[in-house]
Amino acid sequence: MDSFEGLKDLVHTKLRETLLVVASNREPYIHLYGEEGITEIRPPSGLVTALDPVMRAVGGVWVASNWDLQVEEERVQIPIANPSYTLRRIHLSKAQQDGFYYGFSNEMLWPLCHIVHIRPSFRRADWERYVEVNRLFAEAILEEIEDQNALVWVQDFHLALVPRLLKEARPDLLVGHFWHIPWPNPEAFRICPWKRELLEGLLAADLLGFHIRYHCDNFLKTVGMELEARVIDEVSAVQYQNHTTSVKPFPISIDYQGIKRDLQGPEVKDELGKIQKLFRKRREFLAVGVDRVDYTKGILERIQAIDRFLEKYHEYQGRFVYLGIGSPSRVHLHEYKRLWSDVLDLIETVNWRYRAEQYRPILFRDEHVSYPRILAYYMSADLALVSALHDGMNLVAKEFIVSQPEEDPGILILSQFTGVARELHEAILVNPYDTEVFADTIKTVLEMPKEERERRNRWLQEWIREHDIYWWASSFLNEMVSLKRG
Ligand code: F6P
Repeated sequence: MDSFEGLKDLVHTKLRETLLVVASNREPYIHLYGEEGITEIRPPSGLVTALDPVMRAVGGVWVASNWDLQVEEERVQIPIANPSYTLRRIHLSKAQQDGFYYGFSNEMLWPLCHIVHIRPSFRRADWERYVEVNRLFAEAILEEIEDQNALVWVQDFHLALVPRLLKEARPDLLVGHFWHIPWPNPEAFRICPWKRELLEGLLAADLLGFHIRYHCDNFLKTVGMELEARVIDEVSAVQYQNHTTSVKPFPISIDYQGIKRDLQGPEVKDELGKIQKLFRKRREFLAVGVDRVDYTKGILERIQAIDRFLEKYHEYQGRFVYLGIGSPSRVHLHEYKRLWSDVLDLIETVNWRYRAEQYRPILFRDEHVSYPRILAYYMSADLALVSALHDGMNLVAKEFIVSQPEEDPGILILSQFTGVARELHEAILVNPYDTEVFADTIKTVLEMPKEERERRNRWLQEWIREHDIYWWASSFLNEMVSLKRG
């Protein structure tokens, strides 16, 4: 039985007569009205990339906040073309979006958990909105469940208080929480004025998941330092106020087989044709980078490394092009506006330095790029640059690998500060802060013999094939089921 069938079997046998509810801030689809009716776009979110295939496979309810101004219904069956699960939407007012999402989640928790030297902003009013919106989520989830048995799988840092709110109302519910971003060391976390409430919210869950063991260990140390709790290191669990929470790593992944099918589809082939025409004329070597434009992603460090690479190895000038796809993100926040302008400024400087007739070394696309086109870019590239300064996992790295052909594949240069670097041993790791070594690594990879690239690619593909998204979801849900039994 493959991992996809394994997950369906698990849900249909061990979770029979149990409603599966997923809750996240972000909706799995953005709906747009156009001349041809409604189109669904996948937002640039690792969480959505991972969980939408799972929900399509097993069904259930996904509770999310409603940012989608074009489709107002409270409940929608999605995906529209092939309805597989229910989306329950919570409408947030502008003040709630500001305080809960922009303020507390993205100006406080995000910089607190990512160690990239951006100071978190602590504002009581944002905290109050965060509490209010977490309550709205808990209420909507309980409404969906009514009096049924349910397993609730809460997602990410936006909803840290939801497990506690659910358990207070329905102690019999099975509640899991998956934290998609890093958990910092206890010294970094201890400055948060609402640390106790956040920890207590999470510790009401039966199972708390992180991507890697290191984040679990940081969490356990934080709890040991901040609460009068019993941390049981041998089994990686916490006992607090008569409740036990298991804390385990589950490295998130992607739909390996699904992407392989998409790569063979007509849309990707069509895009591939266009890209080949466009780039073959203009360059010998193509590097790609795909990110939300976020200060954790190391975009400036990547461009600095490209600059140094072209300066030091000038034989590559005119032959090497980097294509960056940057989805705008959290654009109302000061740090993101600043980053956006710094990125454009640096690209202009580097392009000016090396420009020649038709040649510009850096191309930057900041509009929405369709998924088939992104896959086609991956397939066409000689290397991908994932240079995050700190990242929970990073699924772009896995998507790039899966998109490579067996023969003459491209190579991944990967920041050692991503969660995925702990898994993808045959990627080429760099410290993105070390510009000189990063630049040298680009050269090494471009000159790597075909046999070595093929050997590395075989190992990486096999790893992701075995540890795909259905394997991830089954591991988490199986663990929850065993907790219920135990
Ligand atoms: O993948 C990690 C994550 O934090 C997701 O939770 C989130 O959806 C994503 O990054 C993108 O951020 P946002 O939802 O704020 O655009």
